[in-house]
Amino acid sequence: MRLFNAAIVLSTITSTVTAFSLQNQNQLQQLQLQLLQQNAISNTQLKVLADDETLSSSQRTPLGMPGTAKMDKEWGELGFEFRPTKSHLCITYKDGEWGEMELNEDPYIQIHMGATALHYGQACFEGLKAFAHPDNSVHVFRPDENAKRLQSSCERILMPVIPHDLFLKAVNEVVRDNIAYVPPYGSGGALYLRPLLFGSGPRIGLQPADEYTFLLMVIPVGDYYKGGLASPVDGIIINDFDRAAAKGVGHVKVAGNYAADLLPNMLSKKEGYPISLYLDSKTQSLVEEFSTSNFVGIVNGGEEKKYVTPKSSSVLPSITNKSLMTIAKDEGLTVEERDIPIEELEDFDEVLACGTAVVVTPVGSLTSVGKGDVNKFEFSQEVGPITQQLYDQVRAIQSGEIEDKHGWNFKIE
Ligand code: PLP
Ligand code: COI
Repeated sequence: MRLFNAAIVLSTITSTVTAFSLQNQNQLQQLQLQLLQQNAISNTQLKVLADDETLSSSQRTPLGMPGTAKMDKEWGELGFEFRPTKSHLCITYKDGEWGEMELNEDPYIQIHMGATALHYGQACFEGLKAFAHPDNSVHVFRPDENAKRLQSSCERILMPVIPHDLFLKAVNEVVRDNIAYVPPYGSGGALYLRPLLFGSGPRIGLQPADEYTFLLMVIPVGDYYKGGLASPVDGIIINDFDRAAAKGVGHVKVAGNYAADLLPNMLSKKEGYPISLYLDSKTQSLVEEFSTSNFVGIVNGGEEKKYVTPKSSSVLPSITNKSLMTIAKDEGLTVEERDIPIEELEDFDEVLACGTAVVVTPVGSLTSVGKGDVNKFEFSQEVGPITQQLYDQVRAIQSGEIEDKHGWNFKIE
């Protein structure tokens, strides 16, 4: 509460100063420094304004060190669950424009009971990761792609798009403020960034809101599936539910897609399958994608090595998949993006799930339970050589161990 009040105080001071002295940024800087010296407000609020326009880089607090936060677990033992960090970033959209970035320590937010996100699911999100490199610098993997995908989600559900540069700046600021929570180089972990944008203004009739909130939270994470790359997971093919309609919203990352998946996902897990594969909703005959990741089938038939992934208007365009396709081509594999009939599962030597959270997860088998019959497709029971190769390459780029020749890493400044 104290922090929230301080943020209001600071933004009031800021707008007052800006109003009568636009030509003199120094006054604002001096006021901020004065406040800092008096210790009147916490560092967190001051950093809200610590962007290029208000504080010169020499006045910015020095960038800290990854892996220095106090944790309840060893860095190498983290799974994929919520953990508190120092702060999250918030920007609100009101009266047709995006406001100032704020870094807040309190993970609870106040929300109007009529918010369109709560009633009509006007909400979308993203997922991306920051990694520590051997020299302790920190890099975010392809945030420009997440900025673009977030914009396409916003457009589909009539929300204002967050400007590309503002998104990148927000990513930089929140990682900078939470740098101690970036798992250290060599731990295998990453700082997961979860941008979330939702209608926070009230509506009772079905209409888009006129106020929006963008939040960017960060969480140190390890493997999504226990055992990570070392343990192929067994999957089930979902026959009783669809993930996304052919002309629906499967290609964007809107919250409702995940609500619809909760029940099938839980039922699958109860049956002993940690991962579930959806088919296309129209014909129920084509491989679509997993609940939280894209599908990739590998043919390793001696001479020709193939990377096959579905092309569908209702699959989420995965940034990991896009990166793996580039790596696969670099490594001499033939990459095919096309329809994959279920029967073709028999032809794959390796199957993998790919995504930011799951990275590259080998899938050992896929079971289809139909009316009275069970059909099990089996793949490599150990990590296949191509799966291993793709994983090693993408992780080495993310961790700064090999050349980032495609320019995918964005350094935190
Ligand atoms: N497919 C779905 C349904 C997802 O939720 C995700 C996760 O973001 C992915 C695929 C993988 O996308 P990305 O590699 O961009 O994280
Ligand atoms: C991600 O991989 O970033 C995701 O968004 C997956 C999440 C639904 C668990």
